[in-house]
Amino acid sequence: MDRKPVTLPAIVGKKNSRSKITALTAYDFCLARILDDTDIDIILVGDSLAMVSLGFPNTLPVTMDAMIAHTQAVSRGVQNSLIVGDMPFMSYQISNEQAIANAGRFLQEGGAVAVKLEGGVRISEKVRAIVQAGIPVMGHIGLTPQSVHQFGGYKVQGKNLLQARQIKQDARELEKAGAFAVVLEGIPSDLAGDITDCLKIPTIGIGAGPHCDGQILVLHDLLGLNQDFTPKFVKRYANLNVEIKQAVGNYIEEVRSGAFPDAEHSYGNEKQSLKKVDNSNGNH
Ligand code: KIV
Repeated sequence: MDRKPVTLPAIVGKKNSRSKITALTAYDFCLARILDDTDIDIILVGDSLAMVSLGFPNTLPVTMDAMIAHTQAVSRGVQNSLIVGDMPFMSYQISNEQAIANAGRFLQEGGAVAVKLEGGVRISEKVRAIVQAGIPVMGHIGLTPQSVHQFGGYKVQGKNLLQARQIKQDARELEKAGAFAVVLEGIPSDLAGDITDCLKIPTIGIGAGPHCDGQILVLHDLLGLNQDFTPKFVKRYANLNVEIKQAVGNYIEEVRSGAFPDAEHSYGNEKQSLKKVDNSNGNH
């Protein structure tokens, strides 16, 4: 596909032109390269990596070094989509200096164009500091997975008036602090629509209904690779875990029966030169 690199102003401009922003996660070179061949606007190297690829029960254990290594792998496969690196738990909470230094690594070492941080009012100072250092920031509010223990599980947020007000306030503060976009996760559709209407920056929803300026999903969920994970907000566009098992089953059968490898998948030799080798061996 012939397309130009997606820029940050182009993402922000989509809100005004009312064209939806599309975003997906990727954690490795191969899938990032496939995504980049589509028309996807944003590739997020999400800290969901911890659960999806590394098998942890939540996102908390993934480290800065792991996030940087995976962002580098994604960058090697991407020419056009805009890459956002997800700042992992405890990589930005301690001080403005820590937040700026770690955010900088995503751009300098990872090849990302922007970083994403979880939290609203309580981290707005960090967002301001990172943006002032010249690093674009995407916010992330609502059901923020790094706060899973505070929430007591992965529960939809903003269902009551008090919570809804707080999330709206979080969104406003992130905009004021200079975020270029904000992810709204796990909140009621009406609240997401209300926030989308009151912000100048785009909102990108996940489990936040249809009124956001864009949508993001975890690629493995969309492809049906994650066989046990079927929350209401995920739509499976493929069921690759079944296809993979079928393909591997066929492979096992063919290896056992001797049908693979056949002549088509085996190397021939240069008969002439082998004969020469035989002859010369015989002469000795
Ligand atoms: O880590 C992640 O994958 C995310 C999103 C899906 C928003 O934060």
